[in-house]
Amino acid sequence: MNKLVENGKIIYNKPLSDDVNALCLAVPQVVALAQPGQFVMIKNEQGSTYLRRPFGVADVNKETGQLVLIYRKAGKGTQELSQLDSGAVISVEGPLGKGFSFKNEGRTLLIGGGVGIAPIIYTARHLGAEMTGPKPVILLGVRNHKELFWSDFVEEFSEKLVYTTDDGSYGRKGFAIDAVPDILNKYPDIRHIKVCGPTIMMKGIAELAIKQGIECEVSLEKRMACGIGVCLGCTFAGKSGKRWKVCADGPVFDAVEVFG
Ligand SMILES: Cc1cc2nc3c(=O)[nH]c(=O)nc-3n(C[C@H](O)[C@H](O)[C@H](O)COP(=O)(O)OP(=O)(O)OC[C@H]3O[C@@H](n4cnc5c(N)ncnc54)[C@H](O)[C@@H]3O)c2cc1C
Ligand code: FES
Repeated sequence: MNKLVENGKIIYNKPLSDDVNALCLAVPQVVALAQPGQFVMIKNEQGSTYLRRPFGVADVNKETGQLVLIYRKAGKGTQELSQLDSGAVISVEGPLGKGFSFKNEGRTLLIGGGVGIAPIIYTARHLGAEMTGPKPVILLGVRNHKELFWSDFVEEFSEKLVYTTDDGSYGRKGFAIDAVPDILNKYPDIRHIKVCGPTIMMKGIAELAIKQGIECEVSLEKRMACGIGVCLGCTFAGKSGKRWKVCADGPVFDAVEVFG
């Protein structure tokens, strides 16, 4: 496994909304290996939580060696993380797991919901700026118009950026899945769908993709203790009957194995 533990200096740790922060760390060795859809386990040595916490690789800059994580303040660990200033040092273990797969045929629809949008950013950069095929269509499901900060990270890599909001305060009112049929009609060259977000959202989109014969990958989130396939705390039974470890075999899986 290509993974490292590297101490990273915080370049910035800034709020994007009331409860979401962007954390940028200088970890050139981790960044050199990171692929879209992989994650890192981080430890704030100044904090009180014992276990490392998993976060998807939101973005990387291979030239500067900087890694961006985007996190929601969910509990103690992330609250304490949000108190750290530029210059503080954090231990980063990674990159971990198996990320998204890429093929040079057809267009991709990238779908993110809530803070699950984070790994969609690097995936969008890869498809929209590093690969030669058509740019992805990006569909983001957020609570309301206060969460449009994601555009700054993905707009330049997208053919079209579509939002749904729970309250209709921006874009289409409703859930991300409600917008998928229209997008597929408008972009008949879409051959792949990649999703990261709440399970219920991924399940609905996976079922729709399977019905339409479109390849679909989903990025799963399970509570993780070790992050490297040792503790067996993150396993699930796939549709094939095989038991998978989300941290080591995923977090990205073929939708057929999870929801088929
Ligand atoms: C592969 C993976 C990638 C992730 N990527 C992101 C990301 O990019 N941005 C983001 O905001 N969050 C992400 N998460 C979730 C993030 O790890 C948790 O929100 C974080 O660990 C909470 O820590 P805490 O100490 O603040 O919360 P706690 O006080 O420990 O718990 C608060 C909530 O967070 C959940 N949680 C706690 N520990 C974990 C854990 N180890 N794994 C999953 N859920 C947990 C709990 O179920 C609870 O609902 C990811 C999780 C996984 C498994
Ligand atoms: S978190 Fe320990 S095996 Fe996956």
